[in-house]
Amino acid sequence: MITLGIETSCDETALALIETRGVYSSITTEDTFECRVIASLIHSQAELHSAYGGVFPMLAKREHGKNITPLLEEILKSTTARGALKNEQFESVIESLRKEMESKDPDLFGAIEKADFLKHVPNIDQIAVTEGPGLEPTLWVGINAARILGKLWDVSVVPVNHMEGHIVASLLASDAPGGQWQKLSELNLPAVALLISGGHTELIKINKLGDYTILGQTKDDAVGEAFDKVARLLGLPYPGGPHISRLSNEAIEEGIVPTVKLPRPMIDSPNLDLSFSGLKTAVLYAVRAELKRTGTEQLSEISKKGIALEFERAVTETLEKKLRGAIESVGAQSVIVGGGVSANSMLRESFKNIGKEYSVPVYLPSTHTSGDNALMIALAGALHGKVVDRPLKAEGTKRLAS
Ligand code: KG4
Ligand code: ZN
Repeated sequence: MITLGIETSCDETALALIETRGVYSSITTEDTFECRVIASLIHSQAELHSAYGGVFPMLAKREHGKNITPLLEEILKSTTARGALKNEQFESVIESLRKEMESKDPDLFGAIEKADFLKHVPNIDQIAVTEGPGLEPTLWVGINAARILGKLWDVSVVPVNHMEGHIVASLLASDAPGGQWQKLSELNLPAVALLISGGHTELIKINKLGDYTILGQTKDDAVGEAFDKVARLLGLPYPGGPHISRLSNEAIEEGIVPTVKLPRPMIDSPNLDLSFSGLKTAVLYAVRAELKRTGTEQLSEISKKGIALEFERAVTETLEKKLRGAIESVGAQSVIVGGGVSANSMLRESFKNIGKEYSVPVYLPSTHTSGDNALMIALAGALHGKVVDRPLKAEGTKRLAS
C-alpha cells in the first residue's frame, strides 16, 4: 500500500510517500508490518516567521497554500502514474469544489486548478492528513488539499492526529528516502511517550498503538514555547530551541559556570503535570537583574551562555523527574520521545541514560523526524488509519486520548 502523507499543522509544509506491507501487531511474533520511505519533503517557513518572533497563523496559511502544489509536483516524480484524467474530468472535480473552497483557501485552490501535472493519477492507495492539533487556519490547507486530491484521484483520505505522528516517527529506524524495507522498532508494552514540541508537552501511556492514556501535561506553556520565549529574552531568533542549545553547549565547552539559579518547576509535585511559564518568568527576572548589575543594555555573551545552560539544566532535570515518575507509575517496558524539542542534545543524552537506568529501550526520532514532517503522518495513517464516516475538519485542540 502506498500512502501520501500531508502535514500543515504549523509552519512546515510537508509531504511524504511511503510504501507499507504486512499487518502491524503489538505482539512481536505476529507483527509482519514493514515500511519503505519513498520520499519525504519539508518546506520550513521558520525564517519568514522569525521577524514576528513566532508563527503568524494567517501568513502560515497563505504560505502552505502556495507551497503545497510545487512540493506535490516534486514528490510525485517518485511515483508512477496509473492513469490520466481527461480535461473534462479534472475540471468537473475542480468545479464541484470551487464554491466551497475557492473563497476560503484562494491560494491553494488557485494553484491546484492550474496544476496540469495532477491529471496524471499517481499510483497511491490513500492520503493521510493531519486533522489536528495545530493551528486551525493552516490545518485546513492540508485537509482541503487532501480532499481535492482524494476526489481527483479517487483515493480515500484518512485523518491523523499530529501527536500520534510524533509517537510513530520515533519507531522508524531509518528515514532515508528511496530506502530499504524496514520493520519498526519493537514497542514493548505498556510504553510511555514523552512528547515535547512547540505546542505540546505531554506524558502518555501507550496501551497499544492507537490506544493512549494521558498521564500528565503542561499546565501552561509547552516546553518548546519556553525555549522560544527564553531565546527571545536573550535576543536570539525564532525558533529559539536550537540557538539555546548551541549557547548551552558552548558554555559547557568553555567551562562557564552559570551565575543564575533557576527553578525546577513542579519537580516536587506528586503528579506528572508540568509547567514552564514560571521558568520563563524566572529567566526574565534573571536577565533584568544581570542588566542592572552590569549597568548595560545588553547581556554579555558569557551571561547569555550561562543563562542558556542553566535553563537547559532546569528543563532537563524537570523532564527527567517526570519521565522517571511515568516509567515507574505504568511499569513501562519501552519509552518513546517525540516532538521538535527532542532534537536537543542534552535532553537526548539524559533520556538515553534513563533508559539504561531502567533497562528499557528509549526510541528517539532522527533529526528529520523530530520536527514536523509528513513521514510520521503517512506512517500513522498506514499503521491504523481509517476512513471516517464524517467530513474532515481542522481541530486545533484535537486530543490523543481523554
Ligand atoms: O514539533 P515541532 O517541530 O513543532 C510543533 O509541533 O510545535 O517543535 C518545534 C519546537 C520549537 O519550539 C523549537 O524551538 C523546538 O521545537 N526545538 C528545540 C530544538 N530544536 C527545535 N528545542 C530545544 N533544543 C533543540 N535543539
Ligand atoms: Zn509537532
